[in-house]
Amino acid sequence: MKPIAQQTILITGSSDGLGKQTALALAKQGATVLLHGRDQQRLEASRQAILEETGNSHVEAYLADFADLSEVRKLAQTLQAQHPRLDMLINNAGIGAGKIAEARRELSRDGYELRFAINYLAPFLLTHLLLPCLRQTPPARIINVGSVGQSPIEFSDVMLERHYDPADAYRQSKLALTMFTFDLAEELKGEQITVNCLHPASLMNTRMVYESLGYALSTVEEGREAVMYLATSPALDNVTGKYFDQRRQARAHSQAYDLAARRRLQQLSEQLTGLSNP
Ligand SMILES: NC(=O)c1ccc[n+]([C@@H]2O[C@H](COP(=O)([O-])OP(=O)(O)OC[C@H]3O[C@@H](n4cnc5c(N)ncnc54)[C@H](OP(=O)(O)O)[C@@H]3O)[C@@H](O)[C@H]2O)c1
Repeated sequence: MKPIAQQTILITGSSDGLGKQTALALAKQGATVLLHGRDQQRLEASRQAILEETGNSHVEAYLADFADLSEVRKLAQTLQAQHPRLDMLINNAGIGAGKIAEARRELSRDGYELRFAINYLAPFLLTHLLLPCLRQTPPARIINVGSVGQSPIEFSDVMLERHYDPADAYRQSKLALTMFTFDLAEELKGEQITVNCLHPASLMNTRMVYESLGYALSTVEEGREAVMYLATSPALDNVTGKYFDQRRQARAHSQAYDLAARRRLQQLSEQLTGLSNP
């Protein structure tokens, strides 16, 4: 792998939590860091904080709300124009189960179940649109921040219209991201782009966890160390299509190894994101 200081790295959802901490760690090592968030003020505050702490002036900020796939497309277009060469993409942005007691099914601006849209369809689309940039500068890495919480996709009710549970909605989106990781690794075989996903740590002390549960069981620093391992370890130069529980290779939910389910999800995702009909 190239030295981190020579890499341009996009980290989605880096206005807060794990994404912000990972961006800070990579900026400390001298990378050109492309931050992303959906809120201009939080994003700019994150950029300023990283700038002040690291002195690294190569930290840029990009705005896009992942609840709207047209914003994902615009983000990809902007990045393609400004950074035609991208060494690493860390798909980290996400929402949790929300306030469990107030749980109600929500929709994205495209009319899709919100967690499926933000946590899965947005990174699915963004990754495909940025592949040309990742292909410009091999070797490249894609890291998908998944979760140990994974629920099988019920294909007759992917949008959870019949039965809605916020924790299931979150877990379904995270399994979908894991299934995408395995498919994309197959697709990219023979190219020097690896793609892996991970569970960073359980119930880190981030906004997402406090909002849902009100307490935490681990720290964002623990999660950051796991993401940094996937991002920087030379031992993973040729490792692709794997699921990690923190730094340890692990087995994902059994549906992730069901090729028919993966094909079905892939076709559905291409339709929903418009990738099959450009
Ligand atoms: N926390 C845990 O224990 C845990 C465990 C397993 C996996 N994870 C995963 O780790 C990742 C980071 O989570 P975290 O705990 O760091 O959560 P967090 O502190 O809530 O940060 C989430 C990030 O995603 C961004 N985001 C949320 N909705 C978005 C949208 N619609 N469009 C664009 N960006 C959006 C947030 O932006 P704003 O600042 O604007 O909200 C923020 O930058 C997530 O994918 C999560 O599922 C977390």
